[in-house]
Amino acid sequence: MEKMLLRGGRVIDPASGVNQIADLLIENGRVAAIGENLPADGAQVFDAAGKVVAPGFIDMHCHLRDPGLEYKEDLISGTKAAARGGFTGVCCMPNTKPVNDNASVTRYILEKAQWQGSGVHVYPVGAISKGLEGKEMAEIGRMKQAGIIAISDDGKPVTNSNLLRLAMQYADYFNVFIMSHSEDKNLVGDGVMNEGFISTKLGLPGITRAAEEVMIARDILVAEAEGKRIHLCHVSTKGGVQLVREAKKRGVRVTAETAPHYIAATDDWVIGYDSNCRVNPPLREESDRLACIEGLCDGTLDAIATDHAPHHLDEKRVEFHIAASGISGFETAFCVSNTMLVKSGAMTLDKLIELMSANPAKLLGVEGGCLAVGSAADIVVLDPEREVTVDADKFVSRGHNTPFHGKTYFGAVCATIVGGKVIDQEG
Ligand code: DOR
Ligand code: ZN
Ligand code: ZN
Repeated sequence: MEKMLLRGGRVIDPASGVNQIADLLIENGRVAAIGENLPADGAQVFDAAGKVVAPGFIDMHCHLRDPGLEYKEDLISGTKAAARGGFTGVCCMPNTKPVNDNASVTRYILEKAQWQGSGVHVYPVGAISKGLEGKEMAEIGRMKQAGIIAISDDGKPVTNSNLLRLAMQYADYFNVFIMSHSEDKNLVGDGVMNEGFISTKLGLPGITRAAEEVMIARDILVAEAEGKRIHLCHVSTKGGVQLVREAKKRGVRVTAETAPHYIAATDDWVIGYDSNCRVNPPLREESDRLACIEGLCDGTLDAIATDHAPHHLDEKRVEFHIAASGISGFETAFCVSNTMLVKSGAMTLDKLIELMSANPAKLLGVEGGCLAVGSAADIVVLDPEREVTVDADKFVSRGHNTPFHGKTYFGAVCATIVGGKVIDQEG
């Protein structure tokens, strides 16, 4: 029998309301006991004194780029980077090459992750439309059989509202849900950053918040009319948060995420034309940033997802307006979120863990996100007080594109454990 004892850490498990200094015993990949002075009794001992022991983070939204775009990231580097960031489960978006719009690609992802991945659970998201072209529906049932957890055309909106409606009905039937990249491409036009004072000053074409909000409203109204479920990706505007808040109030089955960069960075970071600040949706303004934080605090936004979007240096070391959009986010998600949300006094660490672990597990309907006795031993060990300076050159991810390089935050990931096995440990 394989046993491990995490000794003397602060066990924080929002799902069961636990926050106490205790030992945590793992047996056969599951949480066997939590309590004071548990006997080691042949178990491998992990000294967690001064650290926080929490359910591993679960990322509802990332891009692992495999198959076909391995020069940006692959299932090996991506799952290693996820483990380094404290994630024990990740959902990978289908905008690969080929697109994950059929069962054979889904199977490829699951098999490669299982045999060559770091041990992090990988939950593939299938496409809504074939080739992400927004025309014909993908093979949702077959992909579900093969193991997808949700469907999305992420990277692109589903412009055809009737296709969205049909996809909602199929998704419901096959017990998956839609993750919407809410963006009106006509309103985006040739915009490359948030539209406002800074875009005018920099002479860069802007993207109105309406480009996001019009589609969030559309998504909500279609879901409401159908009585179906919709999850909104990367909400970044004050108006978007308000639309979700109002929809939830009237009982629409809507859930939503935001990403660490939307609660930590604003469009003035683009001054200097650093293409690492180019992301879609774009970095907004202070009022939007604060609204996203408020949305996380009051339950309007259900989860923090990284939208980890690694790109090659060659796609980023170019003029801002032609650079690829996206931020390599796994390895900064905790320190950035912890600093902006917990250190700032906006919420407790318990609440942050809920947003990064318990809530996404619940929305996805997967194991994890909980440390109750009998749960899978998918665990992260954290040092929330430690100062860390982000060094993109040291990223495990193949994507070194981050606007946080050189900045100092609070919060280190000390170890990541999946099924009772340490899959990543610092140092
Ligand atoms: O910035 C982004 N990058 N936003 C998206 O919607 C897609 C993603 C990507 O795939 O690079
Ligand atoms: Zn997206
Ligand atoms: Zn994305």
